[in-house]
Amino acid sequence: MSTDTPLTMLGGLSATDFLRDYWQQQPLLIRGAFPDIESPLSPDELAGLACEDNVEARLVEEHGPEGPWQVSHGPFDEATFARLPERDWTLLVQAVDHYVPEVAELLECFDFLPRWRLDDIMISYAPPGGSVGPHVDQYDVFLLQASGQRHWQLGGRVPEDAPIIAGIDLRILERFEVQPGQDWVLEPGDMLYLPPGWAHHGVSQSDDCLTFSVGFRAPSADEAITSFADYLGEQLPASHRYADAGMEPPEDPAQLDDASLARMRALILETLDDPDQMAQWFGRVMTQPKYVDQLVPNETPTEEDELVAALQAGECLERSLGSRFAWRALDDERATLFVDGDGIDCPAALARELAGTAMLDARLLDYPEAPRVLTHLLDAGSLDWAQPDEE
Ligand code: SIN
Ligand code: CO
Repeated sequence: MSTDTPLTMLGGLSATDFLRDYWQQQPLLIRGAFPDIESPLSPDELAGLACEDNVEARLVEEHGPEGPWQVSHGPFDEATFARLPERDWTLLVQAVDHYVPEVAELLECFDFLPRWRLDDIMISYAPPGGSVGPHVDQYDVFLLQASGQRHWQLGGRVPEDAPIIAGIDLRILERFEVQPGQDWVLEPGDMLYLPPGWAHHGVSQSDDCLTFSVGFRAPSADEAITSFADYLGEQLPASHRYADAGMEPPEDPAQLDDASLARMRALILETLDDPDQMAQWFGRVMTQPKYVDQLVPNETPTEEDELVAALQAGECLERSLGSRFAWRALDDERATLFVDGDGIDCPAALARELAGTAMLDARLLDYPEAPRVLTHLLDAGSLDWAQPDEE
């Protein structure tokens, strides 16, 4: 599809228009973005997920038994839900796309953005009055109303250090002023895009309010610099260090002079300014799984012959839910395939295919090196055999 095709999910804007005029710049309300939406899971199923170990879930109670805006963390149990009042609370479950394939499928609709920018789909359920208070997030988010109604109000861009209410576990803004014309009730299928740093407040208006937050990741400079320096550091020899051969005698031996500072600066900047290493690091960091311990490596390594035979017999592999794939060309023929924080050197056509969305069947064996790469990914837990009914 051309990047100039009007998209229903962007309210008739093309990907090019949306990225130029809205992405990271200003909010966009899209009525009927997903006109036929039917939530792939019910509030009860969401509550069920929130009771499972290893699922990140939070409950926000505006008038909690222990105080206002009480936040509790999962896993929850039936007794928790049984004691909740009829209104003014919210259940939030992170990364539902890692557990529910029908929710993961929604991510394909966001292919007008780099896939490695996606973080997860968080789903919230709230009875009437439920909200998490007016707040600001530091990431881009599409808030899709999957069922029921939610009243959204926007408060414009606010500085990072805007005052927040003290003494509670939530970052609720002390001051929230609704901007003119930025006040809407979202119906099922409507979607609101918000750039980072934009104050927002969403309150449930119905007893079946489910909101899907499709969130995006962007490392902060702080995280990026620390992580890149660590990545390089693991590879640098101990001999690569500050050197001052041929220097002038110091004017004062206690002084840190300009020439010494310039040598240190050159060492750091020249070491960091390595585009090949940066590409290798960037691919790894952007494909890091959200929850590293959800990646379950095979205990017994797979034989390549076994894998080839299974594919030839009609079995299919699938990308594990929550696994992240990206690729970058090394030259005309080879590429690095980045998967779940690792990098594999392989033929470029194979890397593209694996990082895409097409079925992983015997057709892949036409690519040289496919058995090696597929066996590695299967054993790492990034691929799995498809269950027969899902093929
Ligand atoms: C919610 O779904 O209740 C909150 C989502 C958000 O404001 O980011
Ligand atoms: Co938010």
